[in-house]
Amino acid sequence: MNAPEPTVNVLLDPDWASGSLVDDVRRGLGSRPLRLPPKWLYDDRGSALFDQITRLPVYYPFRAEHTILERYADDIAAACDATTLVELGSGTSEKTRLLLDALDATGRLRRFVPVDVSEGTLREAAASLTARYPELAVEAVVGDFTLHLRHLPGGDRRLVAFLGGTIGNLYVEERAAFLGALADTLEPGEWVLLGTDLVKSVDRMVAAYDDPDGVTAAFVGNCLTVLNRELDADFDPDCYRYVAFWDPHEERMDLRLRAEVPQRVTVPGADLVVDVAGGEEIQVEISTKFRPGRIAEELAEAGLEVTRTWTDPDGDFALTLARRR
Ligand code: SAH
Ligand code: AVI
Repeated sequence: MNAPEPTVNVLLDPDWASGSLVDDVRRGLGSRPLRLPPKWLYDDRGSALFDQITRLPVYYPFRAEHTILERYADDIAAACDATTLVELGSGTSEKTRLLLDALDATGRLRRFVPVDVSEGTLREAAASLTARYPELAVEAVVGDFTLHLRHLPGGDRRLVAFLGGTIGNLYVEERAAFLGALADTLEPGEWVLLGTDLVKSVDRMVAAYDDPDGVTAAFVGNCLTVLNRELDADFDPDCYRYVAFWDPHEERMDLRLRAEVPQRVTVPGADLVVDVAGGEEIQVEISTKFRPGRIAEELAEAGLEVTRTWTDPDGDFALTLARRR
């Protein structure tokens, strides 16, 4: 008998250069401050670097969320009546297996819909999950969770998991728009499971984003390599230094690339020339850290009511289950 195969629905334009990358680059590098959206960090190399980050001793969020799922996945499965699990920004879906095992054990789970912009990583994960759960319909979606929520399969009671703290990579106004769009997509009674990193000692947060081996620096710097390849840009990555700092007002890590020397950069694929000044920074990613009250408030504002929250023993990370009102 042939092994079951996942279905893969591609909603993103397979040619990045003709897709929204051009718009994002024109918007982000065509005005000040220079900024790039972090979704462009995740080509195959970027996804592999992120995977390395999750194994760094200083990068506590992955392990903390893993611990919560190890301890409480059964409680989470029991607290909701979902028959489809949708996972946004699923990556390798490594931790998700704990949730899938628990949902599978309830006997209700029929379908898994992992959604990611990183096509290669998603295809690999979908194939390996199909092999592990042969009874489960795996319907992967190559898509952007800021654009394609409406196109996700419905018609079932869904639990939408958004793990890893990836919601913290959205700016506050993007986060509100995202949560609103997510709530609009869901039927009353459907579920959201949201992973959020929590505010803690500044030293630990900074260390998690400034590892001594420079893996995070390589991950963030990879966006320049992506622009060079996809848009024929001529960034000299060696001229940029990685800078990671805690912004106490916004309560977020701020990850940037600082030009050590002035550089005129041409980006033919976006029809753009950028004069980067010496010392000027490109804002590549933020990673917002939360306080429990803020999570519940933002979910409530979007029409999502918190039913339960779980944290790891050190209180580093939270998983919040909410229901569409
Ligand atoms: N959920 C996994 C991976 C987190 S890394 C974990 O918890 O370990 C963030 C993931 O989100 C990456 O796989 C990246 O490709 C994906 N991603 C980032 N921006 C995205 C977007 N706008 N739409 C869909 N996926 C996105
Ligand atoms: C995917 N996301 C939750 C990671 C984070 O911690 O914000 C991305 C990352 N950037 C640098 N290190 C990890």
